[in-house]
Amino acid sequence: MVYCIEPEQVSLTDLTVGDTVGNMEKIVIEGGNRLVGTVEVSGAKNAVLPLMAASLLVDGWTTITNVPSLRDIATFNRLLSHMGAEVEYAKETGVLRIRTPEITVPEAPYDLVKTMRASVLVLGPLLARNHRARVSLPGGCAIGARPIDLHLKALTQMGAEISVEHGYVEAKADRLKGARIRFDYPTVTGTENIMLAAVYADGQTVIENAAMEPEILCLANALNSMGGFVSGAGTDTIKIEGVKELSAVEVDVIPDRIEAGTFMIASAMTKGNVLIKNCPITFLEALTLKLQEAGTSVEVSGNDVRVIGDFPVRSVDIKTGPYPAFPTDMQAQMMAMMSISSGLSVITETVFENRFMHVGELKRMGADITVDGKSAVVKGVRSLSGAPLMATDLRASASLVLAGLVADGITEISRIYHLDRGYETIENKLMGLGATISRVRADSVVPA
Ligand code: EPZ
Repeated sequence: MVYCIEPEQVSLTDLTVGDTVGNMEKIVIEGGNRLVGTVEVSGAKNAVLPLMAASLLVDGWTTITNVPSLRDIATFNRLLSHMGAEVEYAKETGVLRIRTPEITVPEAPYDLVKTMRASVLVLGPLLARNHRARVSLPGGCAIGARPIDLHLKALTQMGAEISVEHGYVEAKADRLKGARIRFDYPTVTGTENIMLAAVYADGQTVIENAAMEPEILCLANALNSMGGFVSGAGTDTIKIEGVKELSAVEVDVIPDRIEAGTFMIASAMTKGNVLIKNCPITFLEALTLKLQEAGTSVEVSGNDVRVIGDFPVRSVDIKTGPYPAFPTDMQAQMMAMMSISSGLSVITETVFENRFMHVGELKRMGADITVDGKSAVVKGVRSLSGAPLMATDLRASASLVLAGLVADGITEISRIYHLDRGYETIENKLMGLGATISRVRADSVVPA
């Protein structure tokens, strides 16, 4: 049986071993090329998603510019449309316009939430504007259980009545009230959800132990331009004064620090010389210091950054953590680089409990990696060898692409819909830098 549909629409119960799922794509790389040239960073996926959720707070047209063409953003568009929004996206210009005169269906269904857990970001604005919400629990994903208990505990503190039934969060609140919230962990979307709920609450909300990622500041700036009063974003304490009304605005999205970091590593690993335009280098201090420690040259000139790789790549130790620590979203990419380093590197993942899915695939390319709990010990090898690989999650996919760029021979990466969630035509950007890389359509046979 051949299924010619989007892979994430394929539920495994429909398939039996040996079935062929059509319309799958692969990335094919012939390794060994130095990357040289100029590449431009797209808008930040993890800044766009909360801005899209913020558009639910008003009934006019919200305009978001510098929006990349990504699977996650398309999914969120489908979710907003399901809820009654009008959504217009022009891929050529990167302009996204959203208007929700009325929230007709205050619900985020499982089939959308399961493919993108950031859908939970509609919970705050639905409660704030619509006073009720039915949002599917996201469920786990490849990198971890991804609970939202901290979101729900904070909303309950703000007066929401919340129950969890049949896999859905049932929430209602006639009017949210300001509260003093202290997160046990600086959750990124948890901080964003409470900001989005608090803007219409009665009184002041204080979020302590808030996430400090740049995407939080981008959201705060947008809420303030809409007429909100949000202060402290970018620090661990954020204050939100509730207001009665907000107005729709036009917002420009910050560049994607994780895409930028991925290209920095690509240049570093291939002994390249790449000029990264519109690079948010001030958001990438932890990565920059580690790349310099590994022997990479990073030259900043305004918004542009030139990254020059040198051999041998020196091994460095990495420990991920909440911003401004080394970002968990760069861990897999750095592991690919350390796989060809001159020594031993210890990589410790403290944010997610299962974010080493790329290790098995890197080892199939000849990497020497031993996982011990939250840490992976990477012993650099002289070279990796190309192999057929399978992507498991967004950033693991990027790690496999990077490894393919330096591997001897051909690397084929399947299930690249994971990659398309967060990278805008990465193969075109890498091809423009001299990589021998292409995207091919290929049927995939359901494995035993
Ligand atoms: C955001 O996810 C990002 N996604 C992730 O990027 C990123 O990896 C992550 O922050 C950490 O920086 C978006 O912004 C859309 P968290 P989020 O809540 O908000 C635990 C990518 O590759 N936790 O900060 O889901 C949780 O289990 C994606 O673009 C609770 O226990 O991350 C995790 O261990 C992947 N209870 C830790 O906190 C909660 O209620 C950090 O999670 C919430 C979180």
